[in-house]
Amino acid sequence: MTTPPRWLRPTRPGQPPRLEYGADYNPEQWPREVWDEDVRAMRAAGVTVVSLAIFSWALLEPEEGAYDFGWLDEVMDLLHAGGIAVDLATATASPPPWLTARHPEILPVDRHGRTVWPGGRQHWRPTSPVFREHALRLVRRMAGRYATHPALAAWHVSNELGCHNAYDYSADAAAAFRAWLQRRYGDLAALNAAWGTAFWSQHYSGWSQVLPPRMAATHPNPTQQLDFKRFSSDALKDHLRAERDVLRELTPDVPVTTNFMVMGGTKAMDYADWAAEVDFVANDHYVQRTARPLDELSFSANLTGNLAGGRPWFLMEHSTSAVNWQPINVPKRPGDLERHSLTHVAHGADAVCFFQWRQSRAGAEKYHSAMVPHAGEDSTVFRDVTALGETLRRLAAVAGRDRTRARVAVLFDWTSWWAVEQDSHPTDRLRYREEALDWYSALLDLGVRADVLPVGADFADYDLVVAPVLHVVPAGLRQRLEAYVAGGGHLVTTYFSGIVDEHDHVWLGGYPGALRELLGIRIEEFAPLPDGDRATLDNGTAGTLWTDRIEVTGEGVEVLARYGDGRPAITRREHAGGSAAYVSTRLGPDGLAPLLGELLGRSGVESELPPELRGRVELAVRGEFRFLINRTDEPVGLAGLPGEPLHGPLDRLGPRGVTVLRAPE
Ligand code: GLA
Ligand code: GLA
Repeated sequence: MTTPPRWLRPTRPGQPPRLEYGADYNPEQWPREVWDEDVRAMRAAGVTVVSLAIFSWALLEPEEGAYDFGWLDEVMDLLHAGGIAVDLATATASPPPWLTARHPEILPVDRHGRTVWPGGRQHWRPTSPVFREHALRLVRRMAGRYATHPALAAWHVSNELGCHNAYDYSADAAAAFRAWLQRRYGDLAALNAAWGTAFWSQHYSGWSQVLPPRMAATHPNPTQQLDFKRFSSDALKDHLRAERDVLRELTPDVPVTTNFMVMGGTKAMDYADWAAEVDFVANDHYVQRTARPLDELSFSANLTGNLAGGRPWFLMEHSTSAVNWQPINVPKRPGDLERHSLTHVAHGADAVCFFQWRQSRAGAEKYHSAMVPHAGEDSTVFRDVTALGETLRRLAAVAGRDRTRARVAVLFDWTSWWAVEQDSHPTDRLRYREEALDWYSALLDLGVRADVLPVGADFADYDLVVAPVLHVVPAGLRQRLEAYVAGGGHLVTTYFSGIVDEHDHVWLGGYPGALRELLGIRIEEFAPLPDGDRATLDNGTAGTLWTDRIEVTGEGVEVLARYGDGRPAITRREHAGGSAAYVSTRLGPDGLAPLLGELLGRSGVESELPPELRGRVELAVRGEFRFLINRTDEPVGLAGLPGEPLHGPLDRLGPRGVTVLRAPE
């Protein structure tokens, strides 16, 4: 079998490596004469690639089996003539009205048994055989028609799989869930054991009794919920694979991707498990109005880069300015368009694309920013977009460079994320991703580079491994962590870590179960904090959310900080060469920074930045290229940094500015 290329297929002979630039392009929303304008303006802006036909099913197949590819042929030809490559969608993201009218059985059903009707988009069941058949027929048509088109650089399967249809509780989902469970457990006895069905009279005596966790009288079975999350991620992955396999069969030399959503607020897809299914990783990211939006962006880009195994990835969507789907949609500030884009590039993106090229006149996204806004090309946004195109051209030498590994890893685990935020826990206030982000922010505040690493990746060679709320620790992971520390590694973990196995069954004998020996501590009862309560520590910091009543049980355990009542709050156990530390409360970035400073010191990790830049500047490295990103709204002096500036001034970063340096020979 041919191995598909790991990056865009070149659409011009001898095309030199470059950073790609572009957007989702929806020409079907515009009259024919606008298309010529589009290609002209794309060239002016430096656009090299567009994603096409994402929501075009109803126009490409207006009636069942009747196809109209004429308009798409013309757009493909126009783009190619303009030197613009196409990341062509399979067009299956949103089923057309004729399909849902004829086959309402493809519509998802929510946990209350209510049908999700057409009218928006993505109203299809991931497990519907009827939907799958219709979608694959279209994919086959698309692949057959455009296989040899010279503009075709990559395939874009569907769009943001699971954005709106991740959890479906329909009859199709029930049947597929049962089949998935049969593969996972083999027999019903194993399922009963794993789900702990002796509880609340939930014992199953036949497979047909097993259902998705539909709206129940009270807390549905937690293992059933966790398995349903695993299954739902797998069901969407299965759809991705089905489309991909058709594409690989018909166009083996064209790479296949799909746009992930590695960002806050979307957790249904285990992208660590999906990443190997695509020829290159693509991601969408939208800035959220959180306490530290730039850190969240960096965290997402960093995780995406590590999902890609350190290799370059494709930023498929972000926004030039405001979006339309947050409660209040604030435009970006001057400098942020470039800073956001280059932060993604700093973490390995070799393509910077937006949703979308031309701002829509009609439809739900008409107030979403684009490269060409309603105001037209005579606008600040378009001028900024054009300047960014120029910047990316100047940075072409970066293309193809892998991320350079850091010495610190922050572990990220979808299973723990899912499990820890289920109901009927000690507190419902715990947010997995926020705790992970706090540690990442604290590292940025200290000027220390870290890799946000999927937990399944090899972390053996990192000097310090941070494992925030690593709640689900199966025996295999416990062994990996123990081997890491035994091998001289330094581990730090937090409250509610090591508590359950893969079935969400508690490890007995005292918390933190699977990590008790490694940490040399024992906890009999959790002590989460009510809203507004703070637990003061004797190191001058204070915790919220959670505390533990820790008893020190192991040899060589040092108490790094205590609560007001004298009980241990932060501990660290020395092992031969390595160590294992435990933080029993939520300290936030400001409280974590001094602690991390100490832990970094003991693991021999230092900031690669001069002291005056630490915290004010984020450093990211790709080979010989160093990205210096101003995290503040003030200018920052860069005097004395070695290297040749590829972008931005060498002596001073402007507010929100970015400088890219090439290391001296
Ligand atoms: C998602 C979708 C796009 C568009 C944007 C708007 O990322 O993939 O089609 O709806 O959101 O932000
Ligand atoms: C009620 C029920 C118990 C138990 C508790 C939990 O009292 O009768 O079975 O579920 O709630 O607090």
